[in-house]
Amino acid sequence: MAKEVKTIGVLTSGGDAPGMNAAVRAVVRTALGHGMRVIGIQRGFNGLLNGETYEMNLRSVSEIIHRGGTILYTARCLEFKTEEGQRKGADMCQKLGIDALVVIGGDGSFRGAKALANLGIPCIGIPGTIDNDIACSEYTIGYDTAMNTAVEMVDKLRDTTQSHDRCSVVEVMGRNAGYIALNVGIATGAIATLIPERPYDLERDILERMQFTQKTGKKHFIVIVAEGAGHAQDLANEIQARTGIDSRATVLGHVQRGGSPTLRDRVTASRMGYQAVILLEKGIFNRVVAESADKIVDYDINVALSMHKSIDTTLLDVAETISI
Ligand code: ADP
Ligand code: F6P
Repeated sequence: MAKEVKTIGVLTSGGDAPGMNAAVRAVVRTALGHGMRVIGIQRGFNGLLNGETYEMNLRSVSEIIHRGGTILYTARCLEFKTEEGQRKGADMCQKLGIDALVVIGGDGSFRGAKALANLGIPCIGIPGTIDNDIACSEYTIGYDTAMNTAVEMVDKLRDTTQSHDRCSVVEVMGRNAGYIALNVGIATGAIATLIPERPYDLERDILERMQFTQKTGKKHFIVIVAEGAGHAQDLANEIQARTGIDSRATVLGHVQRGGSPTLRDRVTASRMGYQAVILLEKGIFNRVVAESADKIVDYDINVALSMHKSIDTTLLDVAETISI
């Protein structure tokens, strides 16, 4: 029989994402409501190794559902990638009386959780990253807020781009994934959207499209590029040199990682945080909570980490067909 979980540790790890606080709040309130104790671990796996922890109560998570960032702070921890670091982490859990750990983060953080699970510390992963690049889940906490922030910024850029008959090349986040870029490209009517998943051809995918729409009377252009697909400044220089259209580059950067989470992120985070505790209460360990067809589901952590998801390239067809 699985051991009874009386004390849960919770941490946020890797890049922060709006809605992580709502997930922490849900974990804390569900666990306390079900008679468990909760220990908050600060700064991801670093905090676990250093014992940066505190006991959380109902009021520890007051006034955070609407706040971006993470009250538990986050970090990247190189030591945790070593076997020695992982053993130290498992020992710390035992020393702190943590029966099970909830890890809110991305794939890297889940690999850390898997290592702890292998050392006998039950873990549950909750997908938190603006990039939406966790294979087992159709949705990751922070994605909606990040896209809405980017759209708001591009709308502002559009005003000045239009006034000057210019081309704005806007770089959005996504080192390995084009989810943000693709949706923002459609939502802002970008003439071209470049994503890491599909190599682009400057002539065919950007210049020819600009020239075609110029002939129909269009005088200003938005190009969206995911950071993993190219650099805004290089593209703006190239576009200006090849077309003569005055071009400017804007890198939206970490602004996309901040801000008050949208309703979607708050609700998804709340559902996932709740489910993580319910699984632990039932003795169902070493799972990643995920969203599938608007339901909250869960996968074995090893299975979750071996899954792949591919971007829906029909969205590119949508963008290319109507943004002309
Ligand atoms: P994310 O969780 O957003 O993917 P990272 O890839 O930066 O972010 O990972 C966050 C942290 O998870 C790392 O700093 C490290 O502490 C831990 N981690 C990442 N990969 C592994 C791994 N292979 N084994 C153990 N821990 C890992
Ligand atoms: O959180 C994911 C992400 O935003 C990537 O798109 C980006 O490349 C990366 O994090 C940057 O993170 P940092 O600046 O914290 O290293």
